[in-house]
Amino acid sequence: MKLNNSLRTRTSTLFYLAATASLLAKVGQAVNHANFKTCEQSAFARRHRLFADTMAKKVAEPNSKNTKSSSSSSADGSTHPASSPYSVIDSSVHLDGHTVTASVQHEQAQVPLHFEIAFLKSGTVRVRVQEVDPLVPRYSEAHKHILRDEGSSLPYASPDDIKMATEAVNGLVTHTVSYVNGSSAFSVRMTENPWTLEYLVNGKPTMQLNTSGLFHFEHLRQKPADGDLDNVDGGWEETFKNWTDHKRRGPESFGLDINFYGFEHVYGIPEHTSPLSLKDTRGGGEGAYDQPYRIYNLDVFNYQLDSPMAIYGSLPFMLAHNAEATVGVFWVNSSETWVDVTRKLNRGGFKQQSVVNTHWFSESGTMDVFLLPGPSTADVYRQYSEISEQTPMPREFALGYHQCRWNYEDQEDVLAVSAKFHEHSIPYDVIWLDVEYTVGKRYFTWDYDKFPNPLGMQQELARNGHKLVTISDPHIMVDNDYRIWKEGNENGYFIKNIGGLGNYEASCWPGVSSWVDFLDPAASKWMGAQYGLDKFPESTTDMFVWNDMNEPAVFDGPEHTMDKALIQHGGWEHRDVHNLYGMTQQRSTFEGLLAREPVAMRPFLLSRSFYAGSQRYGAIWTGDNTASWGYLRASIPMLLSNNIAGMHFSGADVGGFFGNPDPELLTRWFQLGAWYPFFRGHAHFNTERREPWIFGEPYVSYIRNAIRERYRLLPHWYTLFREASLTGMPLIRPMWMEFPAEPDLFAEQDTFMVGSSIMVAAITKPDTSIPVDVLFPGEEPWYDMHTHVAYPAQLTTQFVVDLANTLVFARGGSIIPTREQQRQSSAYMKSDPFTLYVYVDQAGFAAGKLYIDDGETYDYQSGAFIERELTFLGSKLISRASPLTKNTSAHQTFVQKMSGINVERVAVVGLAIAHNVAEAVVVENGTTRTVNVSHSHSSKIVATDTVSNNSPCIVICNPAVFIGGDWEISF
Ligand SMILES: *[C@@H]1O[C@H](CO)[C@@H](O)[C@H](O)[C@H]1NC(C)=O
Ligand SMILES: *[C@@H]1O[C@H](CO)[C@@H](O)[C@H](O)[C@H]1NC(C)=O
Ligand SMILES: *[C@@H]1O[C@H](CO)[C@@H](O)[C@H](O)[C@H]1NC(C)=O
Repeated sequence: MKLNNSLRTRTSTLFYLAATASLLAKVGQAVNHANFKTCEQSAFARRHRLFADTMAKKVAEPNSKNTKSSSSSSADGSTHPASSPYSVIDSSVHLDGHTVTASVQHEQAQVPLHFEIAFLKSGTVRVRVQEVDPLVPRYSEAHKHILRDEGSSLPYASPDDIKMATEAVNGLVTHTVSYVNGSSAFSVRMTENPWTLEYLVNGKPTMQLNTSGLFHFEHLRQKPADGDLDNVDGGWEETFKNWTDHKRRGPESFGLDINFYGFEHVYGIPEHTSPLSLKDTRGGGEGAYDQPYRIYNLDVFNYQLDSPMAIYGSLPFMLAHNAEATVGVFWVNSSETWVDVTRKLNRGGFKQQSVVNTHWFSESGTMDVFLLPGPSTADVYRQYSEISEQTPMPREFALGYHQCRWNYEDQEDVLAVSAKFHEHSIPYDVIWLDVEYTVGKRYFTWDYDKFPNPLGMQQELARNGHKLVTISDPHIMVDNDYRIWKEGNENGYFIKNIGGLGNYEASCWPGVSSWVDFLDPAASKWMGAQYGLDKFPESTTDMFVWNDMNEPAVFDGPEHTMDKALIQHGGWEHRDVHNLYGMTQQRSTFEGLLAREPVAMRPFLLSRSFYAGSQRYGAIWTGDNTASWGYLRASIPMLLSNNIAGMHFSGADVGGFFGNPDPELLTRWFQLGAWYPFFRGHAHFNTERREPWIFGEPYVSYIRNAIRERYRLLPHWYTLFREASLTGMPLIRPMWMEFPAEPDLFAEQDTFMVGSSIMVAAITKPDTSIPVDVLFPGEEPWYDMHTHVAYPAQLTTQFVVDLANTLVFARGGSIIPTREQQRQSSAYMKSDPFTLYVYVDQAGFAAGKLYIDDGETYDYQSGAFIERELTFLGSKLISRASPLTKNTSAHQTFVQKMSGINVERVAVVGLAIAHNVAEAVVVENGTTRTVNVSHSHSSKIVATDTVSNNSPCIVICNPAVFIGGDWEISF
């Protein structure tokens, strides 16, 4: 039974609009749009949109003389009228090994383009296009920075498994390239004239390329001698505000339409403040955007909600999902890129299918795009992981709570804040220093007036189980007495002026600065080495790094960033590699931290900017948000979109960076932030103090409970990171990802999953009297994790939630590990016993995992971990080693080290039988013993509509089974 789902959806849309409107009214000081280009102000983007308009007209009048058009039919009867000035040059199509190549050219510009498609083993298709013989080289190295192993060892399918067939029907020549893997049949059908591609999985069309005819590739050309630079609109120069961008290579952009056939929802391509299910950007209905999603890393002060504007980071990975399948697109290019999204929804039409049209255009480089066939979400992430490395295991402490502020003034302030956490029994792991700890924003220096004893400060923090993070930005103050600038200058490690001579100098925090060119391997290594204990004065291995302002932010540059014509390593323009800047800084820092110790320890660093590949190096956050309910709410789709794109380890500033949260907002933000993969409080220097205790009772208790919940569940979070590192699966997931066949969930973004077993219904509105609707999806019951009240599936329930409470539900059928002892930091939890919560499904079954390693070294790679598979059935809980467990000596040593770390409690929730069970039988190492059982019934019921009573909970007291061993507990 489903209650009022359509009503539910409409209500939440209204709430969203209302929240956005009130936000704009309150903040008043929103982003200055005039500082950032619209699509119309970006010449290449303008050209591609104009081309799209022209092509749309030609489709409307298919008999136009200048284009060739055709209608190709798919197996299922879909037709896609195509019209494009590009066609395959006769008999240039060849199958060679795993790759099909062809020459494609425009009907007027006789400049041949080299086109190739290749199958990977998993069925993923790579499509590449570049000029056969460009006038000057185009940047074609983005994949080296983005793909796994620099893209050198992609698992291509065996040539023996790839076949090509050619047929001509009514003059239309079609090549079908097929690849069969097990029960999956993949094929790409390519028409010659016009040139189109259709990707079919098991005979069903999924993604279509150039079927809207928007493929357009601007070949390099001679600069007109007569100075007629306007023959291509903005192709040789364009002016935005006071800046003129001179393009030495002229127009060189390219674009392509990728249409998702049979889909209505697309997701991903962060970082934007749009809803989770991406809105239309052209000609859409009410509430749709009129700008494409922009992929161009920018420092956008006070960014706007509900907007496709570019902000700090980006990752050009998109998913499309319908009730049968999930497919993905990965666009490998590092220049400015825009994506238009338009839908054609055909509901109920005979043989009609909905289509999401996407139109991608990039300013420079070559075209390199991967099509991931799924069909399940897990398949897509397996396919993504083949081509792109996934999030590695983080340092364990990084999953705890981080306390940051611009600025903790001095050493006393830092130690006093730390002591307050202890005084209030609130756990935290890391305290952070923003720019003011340095001498005039010269990174790698200490202002000794404020921090007379940095070493002593770190040692004192470490004694209490805490770490320190200091900020280090990519702009280096121009100052001949500053060692970093001097060395960088002498070695030519800075980005160069237009024309390539002299360091680029512009304004940032320290005043006049130069920027490290991390694309230069020597510069990257040099900067990384500055984190060495021998180089960074008074640093310890308990100190970690924050890379900010790395879009890069330039106070007096166009759009607050760098001029695109600046010269980077290899003579490439900044234009070609802009989006890599932050990621290359992360890489340098990561490698520097890795190298600073004799025994490799996992680095921890936070970056503001990111790109495809950044997930390898550390966490990111969503930049400078605002203390308002709208930003609290928007953080969910933002972080879900990051997770969808593979940038798993992300968070938003708890409390909001700008402005002062009232106690209710701050409390709700901690309650939600405890479910962000990266959990950090941060604030602007103009704001009032807002550490967890500032507002006193009852707020401090609520916030303490939220942070403690995070710490209790650290074993679950750590296990999720293990899964992400192996499979690429998101840590936090949109609801549809766990319930892929429930269309009501495809746009849901106020409720989300943490892994596959916990559902968080966020409370992002003030006024606790307004009820919150929660739809319980799937087929199994859900259990309130605080009260153990059970809710049946497929029912929408209204909750009125006072500020002390949150809505967090465990999915029936899961086992969730926790550590229940209250500690001041994760460091003190390492030897703590575990509690296992078993939430049974209707059949009385549950399963879960637990992964443990030392939390800091790479020994887990040689087997030093414990990974248990836990199953519960009937009345028996069983622990077995996961198949990945290998009995290496590293494994044995680790298990030895963990001995004595036991399960102190098992709670079985929702099992109807056994109200009178009095004891349980434990079988371990061939011996049998009995332990006590108690029954607990929770009394608190928060639902207004008490659809169900609190469930029986059987607690097995101190079974004392070894966490790393095989055992069974039954009753
Ligand atoms: C089929 O796909 C799987 C998963 O990607 C891969 O491991 C396997 O090698 C493929 N089989 C062949 C014959 O290529
Ligand atoms: C930029 O242009 C504005 C007018 O459009 C002018 O007032 C301002 O002085 C210019 N700034 C610079 C740095 O040239
Ligand atoms: C069972 O054996 C493991 C090693 O295999 C040991 O660490 C543990 O202490 C033993 N447990 C008991 C109860 O003897």
